[in-house]
Amino acid sequence: MKRYVILISGRGSNMESLLDAGLPGACAAVISNRPDVAGLAAAAARGVATLVIDHRGFASREEFDAALATGIEQHAPDLVLLAGFMRILGDGFVRRFAGRLLNIHPSLLPAFPGVNTHARALAAGVKLHGCSVHFVTPALDGGPIVAQAAVPVQVADDEAILGRRVLAEEHLLYPRVARWFLDGRLRLVGDRVQLVGEKAVGGSLHVPQVD
Ligand code: GRF
Repeated sequence: MKRYVILISGRGSNMESLLDAGLPGACAAVISNRPDVAGLAAAAARGVATLVIDHRGFASREEFDAALATGIEQHAPDLVLLAGFMRILGDGFVRRFAGRLLNIHPSLLPAFPGVNTHARALAAGVKLHGCSVHFVTPALDGGPIVAQAAVPVQVADDEAILGRRVLAEEHLLYPRVARWFLDGRLRLVGDRVQLVGEKAVGGSLHVPQVD
């Protein structure tokens, strides 16, 4: 059975959606760079091993990245899922896990990389917003996109309302992509995404129905 590790920094709702999806693999560990976050308790409640590697205990990004890589490698995962993991990872780390490192980002990339995506989407006046799952490369939120889910932006939206609508789609999209990978149907070939046998749902774009 394939093994995966999830990295979190906080609430962990995407982690919960992954753990509760019945994925065809075993979650070997949930690792947080922050102690005492809600996601750690939620993982432990599901009987998943947890590990804290507090970035504040390291003098440099490289030292933190090295400790994190060691923490991950001890579980020998096939797949590493960043789920609300709020540290930028260095080039060395990203290269080490190339092709087995996925991230979920709350915007329709390449629009709005970085933080505060919902506020920036509202400020820009976009009519369509959403989330993206991508392979991680050294470019921040810039790796090859695997799948996206889109939501309409409505007139009455504020940051919180729009964020909730996007998050609901994140919780559907990320387990779906993780399942593709763990089923051996999704790979990164060079800088291209290869996905086998997903024609029935319209390629790898998922646009939910709107009332
Ligand atoms: C999600 O919106 C994720 O896309 C972003 O940070 C948020 C984390 O939420 N990177 P949670 O910790 O998964 O609840």
